[in-house]
Amino acid sequence: MSDMQTDKKAKIELDGKVFELPIIEGMEGEKAIDIRSLRAQTGYITLDSGYMNTGSCRSGITFLDGERGILQYRGYAIEELAEHCTFVEVAYLLVHGNLPTPAQLRNFSEMLGRFAMIHEDMVHFFDRFPPYASPMSILSSMVNSLCNFYPEMTENPLDNIDAMAARLLSKVRTIAAFSYKKTMGHPVVYPRHDLSYCANFLNMMFDSPVAPYEINDKVVAALNKLLILHGDHEQNCSTSTVRLVGSARVNLYASISAGISALWGPLHGGANQAVMEMLETIHAEGGGYRKFIEKAKDPNDPFRLVGFGHRVYKTHDPRSRILKQASEDVLASMNVVDDPLLEIAKELEEVALRDDYFIERNLYPNVDFYSGIIYRAMGIPANMFTVMFALGRLPGWIAHWMEMWNDPDTRIGRPRQIYVGPQLKPFVPMAERTGNE
Ligand code: SDX
Repeated sequence: MSDMQTDKKAKIELDGKVFELPIIEGMEGEKAIDIRSLRAQTGYITLDSGYMNTGSCRSGITFLDGERGILQYRGYAIEELAEHCTFVEVAYLLVHGNLPTPAQLRNFSEMLGRFAMIHEDMVHFFDRFPPYASPMSILSSMVNSLCNFYPEMTENPLDNIDAMAARLLSKVRTIAAFSYKKTMGHPVVYPRHDLSYCANFLNMMFDSPVAPYEINDKVVAALNKLLILHGDHEQNCSTSTVRLVGSARVNLYASISAGISALWGPLHGGANQAVMEMLETIHAEGGGYRKFIEKAKDPNDPFRLVGFGHRVYKTHDPRSRILKQASEDVLASMNVVDDPLLEIAKELEEVALRDDYFIERNLYPNVDFYSGIIYRAMGIPANMFTVMFALGRLPGWIAHWMEMWNDPDTRIGRPRQIYVGPQLKPFVPMAERTGNE
């Protein structure tokens, strides 16, 4: 990792003394004060709830500029990748750092096909989850269990990056489809060697012994685009979780399982399901979305306009723009005209973006606002939307875990704190306690 040290220094004055701290600069001009020596020099730490101003690492995987609405994977614009690539190509790019040659892609695709099955003992795990079990809970449990069935992947994780990444990408796809079939009470559909990554997933989800699933190339193309757009997003909550858990030298599967749990949250990847539930509620109530905008603006109401706002983007999330167009295209290719939920979403966006509350806070639609419209059109149920987000984010998580694991600067993640609890007090024996100790 090229350290972007500069000869510039930040000066801070504390208790009458002036201290200097190095300034570092990223490839796209981001600037940081390197505070690694702060406490040793000054005895002070920094406090930054939610890490809104704090960088956790140097990374060469994804660049995003929240002010200009720029997103690049390994230097390539998301718009180009979404337009010209398959998800498998982009997964290879994120993991390896280069777009695959035809031979590399063939080899990677062959591995994905070879690793598509899960151990038959794992298939029986599904019989023990209750029918109402959350697909995200099932996914996190099953991914964590992989290290019991494939211990070789935990001993020397970086010996064969392709196999490690392909095994996870392929088996998580199978686990996701199997969990859906199990919640439906249907027999699982095994992966086929003759189908592409996305076509295989759709077939495992929707094929049935009594109703063969007809692969629609436009739907397959839309799924590739959806997964690409979710591929990575630098140090978001779930990716930071994967890196933090991995920094304790935890194997890839357990680190990814922790990332899946973080993604589950409605403020993060769970928002796509919450958007669909919000749009369906608005539709069921006759389309009156203004009530939801007023609720979102009310400081005394915890309701947030889900699918809006972002920690980094203070302008349009480039992914949301692409997904808005893709939702129109997919619905048209399926001869669905005037989808009421898409119409509500578009009107909601239009009204919110003219409202001072949203304008003043730079609140725009994010990746979760339109994605559910497309998943729903494909027949994927809302409680599987966040699983789809995880499927897309997997290559990004793998890439970040590997970058962290390989980085000589990596130390176990262990933040400091400012203590605000009680000061030392005398111990009170049980017999003398009044309940106020
Ligand atoms: C993802 O980090 C990533 O990169 C994530 C992600 C990825 O690819 O990994 O992009 C995926 O998680 C997208 C975000 C999905 N979540 C949602 O759509 C949930 C709704 N959005 C919000 O909860 C919120 O916008 C967050 C969580 C996304 C960001 O929260 P921040 O950065 O902590 O911002 P904040 O809560 O401090 O809000 C700042 C102001 C507040 O108002 P004031 O106190 O200043 O008056 O904006 C308001 C907030 O109340 N606000 C909203 C709002 N989002 C922020 N008000 C109404 N509706 C919203 N959606």
